[in-house]
Amino acid sequence: MFQFPETFLWGSAISANQAEGAFREGGRGLSNIDMIPHGQHRMEVKLGQTAQPALQPEEFYPSHTGVDFYHHYREDLALMGEMGLRVFRTSISWSRLFPQGDEETPNPEGIAFYKDLFQECRKQGMEPLVTLSHFDIPMGLVEKYGAWRSRKVIAFFLRYAETCFREFSPYVRYWLTFNEINIVLHSPFSGAGIAFQPGENRNQVIYQAAHHILLASAQAVRLAHRYSAENKVGCMLAGGSFYPYSCNPADVMESVRKEQENLFFIDVQVRGHYPSYAAKMFREKGVQLVTEPGDDEILNTTTDFISFSYYASRCVAASLEDKQINDGNVVRSVKNPYLQTSQWGWAIDPLGLRITMNQLYDRYQKPLFIVENGLGAKDVVQPDGTIDDEYRIDYLRQHILAMRDAMEDGVPLLGYITWSGIDLVSASTGEMSKRYGFVYVDKDDNGNGTLQRRRKKSFYWYKQVIATNGRCLD
Ligand code: BG6
Repeated sequence: MFQFPETFLWGSAISANQAEGAFREGGRGLSNIDMIPHGQHRMEVKLGQTAQPALQPEEFYPSHTGVDFYHHYREDLALMGEMGLRVFRTSISWSRLFPQGDEETPNPEGIAFYKDLFQECRKQGMEPLVTLSHFDIPMGLVEKYGAWRSRKVIAFFLRYAETCFREFSPYVRYWLTFNEINIVLHSPFSGAGIAFQPGENRNQVIYQAAHHILLASAQAVRLAHRYSAENKVGCMLAGGSFYPYSCNPADVMESVRKEQENLFFIDVQVRGHYPSYAAKMFREKGVQLVTEPGDDEILNTTTDFISFSYYASRCVAASLEDKQINDGNVVRSVKNPYLQTSQWGWAIDPLGLRITMNQLYDRYQKPLFIVENGLGAKDVVQPDGTIDDEYRIDYLRQHILAMRDAMEDGVPLLGYITWSGIDLVSASTGEMSKRYGFVYVDKDDNGNGTLQRRRKKSFYWYKQVIATNGRCLD
């Protein structure tokens, strides 16, 4: 009978930009996410189709208030501690530490906030796992340098990263450099602050920016190790395999191609060099990377582990004729006829988690860490105040079972972190009603509500899962 190791890190996550709010408090500067409104203009800004996004007084920006974690973090961490989490994942808001991005010294209020937050995690018995950039770059760097288009941004990022390692290494041992690094392909402004000018070769801009991001990530790994031998740094992939729609070799080839496109970034971060398929891919996309001598040597610093989010598998076909497209997610997919979908159209595929884990380990032979998995669903508060989210429990149970199977297959896994600990603003839609948490937050899609926190049924369920180290999933 399989047993989870005693050291297995059960946890849950949030991100600064979806939870903290307080977007102008404590000396914080604007970040790319602050510019993304809720409503009809959301997608064009998020995808970088608005050349220079500016705040519009008549629009609503959900990330400005989040779920006010900035003022509720002690209460929220106490709830996470009560569930027995062994690890709590969050991110640092870069513009809380460097409001414009290019300052010489960090904002002391920002440092004090995160120090207290990480100390509080430890008091609650939780290991913090910290992402340096979760869809986050200061607007000062976007406006002055075009964000990651510019190689100069690497130095600003490294100043920020070094500040984090210096100030927070006493409390934090697990770090991720860039959240879902591959999402820059699909959502360039929210992913990396990239907005396009009309007529530009998007691929040239994206892959050049990615080259800078990869150089920054590799150097950050080196810095983290220099600050503490205990620091462990991971890359982070928006995971989920690309299934061929059929056994037609043309569909299978399309899935091979899509996998390469998806794994391209972590191929570099984990193997330490550009993959062999890159040259042809760049040629086909009209990309000519501008590099400098020494870049190969920098990229050669690899991550200690591979973290990934898993919500759904994807499906591809050589021809889209007669196929239904599932466009509920920024990563477009052909509709898989074998799978049910969530209320937001995301395919539900627990076995796909086992498949992804096996494929990632076969390819890289490095320990994995699941740092996001969960179900976005509408929750209803009953008249007695309870929230019966059995559907979420069922989703998580199925995925934990699949993960257990993958571990039995021989895949080493450091831990399992759900998305999300508490309800927060959805990254894709900006809605509050797309809820993922074990803790309900009273706030609606228009920003109204008391912000009161309530434990959902899944809260008690996950508490038991952790207390029994995964033995009891009922
Ligand atoms: C991942 C992100 O893409 O998926 C999170 O890292 C995000 O930030 C999560 O919230 C779920 O996606 P969404 O769009 O439903 O919030």
